[in-house]
Amino acid sequence: MPNRLAGKTAIITGAGQGIGEAIARCFADEGAQVVIAEFNPATGEAVAADLRAQGHTAIAIQTDVADSASVDRMAAQVQRELGGANVLVNNAGINVFRDPLHCTDEDWRRCFSVDLDGVWYCCRAVLPQIIERGGGSIVNLASAHASQIIPNCFPYPVAKHGLLGLTRALAVDMAAQGVRVNAISPGYILTQNVIDYWNSFPDPDAEQERTLAMHPGKRIGTPDEVAWTAVFLASDEARFMTGANLQIDGGMSILYHG
Ligand SMILES: NC(=O)c1ccc[n+]([C@@H]2O[C@H](COP(=O)([O-])OP(=O)(O)OC[C@H]3O[C@@H](n4cnc5c(N)ncnc54)[C@H](O)[C@@H]3O)[C@@H](O)[C@H]2O)c1
Repeated sequence: MPNRLAGKTAIITGAGQGIGEAIARCFADEGAQVVIAEFNPATGEAVAADLRAQGHTAIAIQTDVADSASVDRMAAQVQRELGGANVLVNNAGINVFRDPLHCTDEDWRRCFSVDLDGVWYCCRAVLPQIIERGGGSIVNLASAHASQIIPNCFPYPVAKHGLLGLTRALAVDMAAQGVRVNAISPGYILTQNVIDYWNSFPDPDAEQERTLAMHPGKRIGTPDEVAWTAVFLASDEARFMTGANLQIDGGMSILYHG
């Protein structure tokens, strides 16, 4: 019986689909109680119900991470129903890709409100619970865009660079209270997001081929391959790791693309 996360209660934002759903499922399989803090109540509840049907403890709480009052309500419910969390995975994120010359105030705010403000609101709301439970772990889903600039994706990489800064700043300021804060930077992972991205090109098949060719192994990753790294960072196996950023990109970022 796997139990790398036994005794942990983990909040995972945006866990109704994609990478977040895979993280929720792997965490539950490793013995964690999971909270699915998801904007879409139907997908969040479907994942939670399926986990409960498998004998796990899982609840879904409809949450908009971009709204600090919604995040505070979610944290209060976790405290009430599960005695607080000791792991927080900030996974909810959205792609906003614009030409910088046509990026409106609304585009900029939408991107930052979810991809950066939302992470901060969740950290601020959940940190007291983590500290009260004797310490724990925060895992932030950054991106390859947090270290490299892929053209035509503005302002998403600006927010993801900021997220690495938030990760490192909190890692230092929270270390004495036993809270570790790390980031994961996925490259291309097969989710609806990436399929939509390919479909935004006039020839989606050609764009998919071009993406695969950017990887030494000629394939992109799966949500599970990100989730297992989140399990490691949330577990006591990573107890001396903080402020780190683990790249999961099949070697894309080290391959010379000349
Ligand atoms: N898929 C990739 O290739 C990839 C690569 C690098 C980084 N990432 C990052 O990983 C994370 C997950 O990506 P994904 O591809 O699984 O995304 P996805 O779009 O498939 O899922 C995101 C989930 O977050 C939820 N969500 C969106 N806004 C929210 C809000 N305001 N409050 C709460 N929940 C909200 C959505 O409803 C959805 O369930 C994101 O932070 C993304 O930036 C993904």
